[in-house]
Amino acid sequence: MPPIYLDYNATTPVDPAVAEAMQPYIIMHYGNPSSAHVYGRATKDAVEGARRQVADLLGCTAEEIIFTGGGSESNNTVLKGVAYTYRHQGNHLITSAVEHPAIINPCRFLEQQGVRVTYVPVDRTGMVDPADIRRAITPQTILISIMHANNEVGTLQPIAEIGRIARAHGVLMHTDAAQSVGKIPTLVDQLGVDFLSIAGHKVYAPKGIGALYIRSGVALEPLIHGAGHEFGRRAGTENVIFDVALGKACEVAQADLPRYQREVRQLRDLFQAELVKRFGDRVVVNGHPEQRLPNTLHVNFHGVIGAELLERLPELAASTGSACHAGEVTLSSVLEAMQVPPELGMGAVRFSFGRYTTREEIERAVELIEQVY
Ligand SMILES: Cc1ncc(COP(=O)(O)O)c(C=O)c1O
Repeated sequence: MPPIYLDYNATTPVDPAVAEAMQPYIIMHYGNPSSAHVYGRATKDAVEGARRQVADLLGCTAEEIIFTGGGSESNNTVLKGVAYTYRHQGNHLITSAVEHPAIINPCRFLEQQGVRVTYVPVDRTGMVDPADIRRAITPQTILISIMHANNEVGTLQPIAEIGRIARAHGVLMHTDAAQSVGKIPTLVDQLGVDFLSIAGHKVYAPKGIGALYIRSGVALEPLIHGAGHEFGRRAGTENVIFDVALGKACEVAQADLPRYQREVRQLRDLFQAELVKRFGDRVVVNGHPEQRLPNTLHVNFHGVIGAELLERLPELAASTGSACHAGEVTLSSVLEAMQVPPELGMGAVRFSFGRYTTREEIERAVELIEQVY
């Protein structure tokens, strides 16, 4: 039996329907989508079809979607693009203390270029207070970028409320939705955002493909200049095979969303209940109790180091929330921002479930943990 995969927030396997959709574009249809002949038309139609599939999942038009090389590129495009395009209006960005490095590090880079960045704090559940965002806005503020769902603890941020604040102040709003797309609804108008980032490999497409929603009419200097691909917003001959894959992945995710939200949540809740039943207050769940991704369970195991616990569980594939070097434990920046005490957070493990998780896997995983903890 292969190890039980409980690390869907790290990456997902490619859905067989996605792999099948890619097949014709690997060998048979190889034309350049920019070519006017029949070979080019075949791949052009494929890319534009895929764009519509992505747009449908987000409730926007196809012209508002560009394909990118992944979540990191989408985030960089927004942060650097806004800082450059709107530099005459202001030089202040607002983000949160619990963002992915694909947001934090471009912000650090921009700080070196003279941009001012406010990192709003979170509460003990990992949630941003919209009032903190409102207070942080200055006449210089050009962008608010807050993640939709946290990759570690799964806490959902009040994006719609923050989006309303952004709009009321005439500030652009971005959300990194790499972890929420396909797990919960991600409709751009409900969220009230101008930009939204997608990472394909979190939604059963291959690694190295992503997308970015850019609200119609919003100017944004591209990260990659060249010919006029992607409406002039990202140059480079289209990655037809992977664009098709992401389109199919979004179509499948949209159809699967009601089931996913119900069934994956049930499995996660079962796992959580079993851990609490067996270990009582030796386990503490991190993140928001309700406003949380349906597939994520982040737990502190009392009295152990998370990485050491997982080392004793080679049949389980999960992630830790802390690192231990030379006997010294360092919490992830997310747990630190949530003010998780180090003696608790050192035992942090993230379990994340997905489309192919079964009840048998959940039951077996709990048994395995009981054998070593
Ligand atoms: C919240 C979040 N943003 C961005 C990324 C980066 O996406 P990619 O790996 O496609 O660059 C990830 C993936 O780890 C993520 O979890």
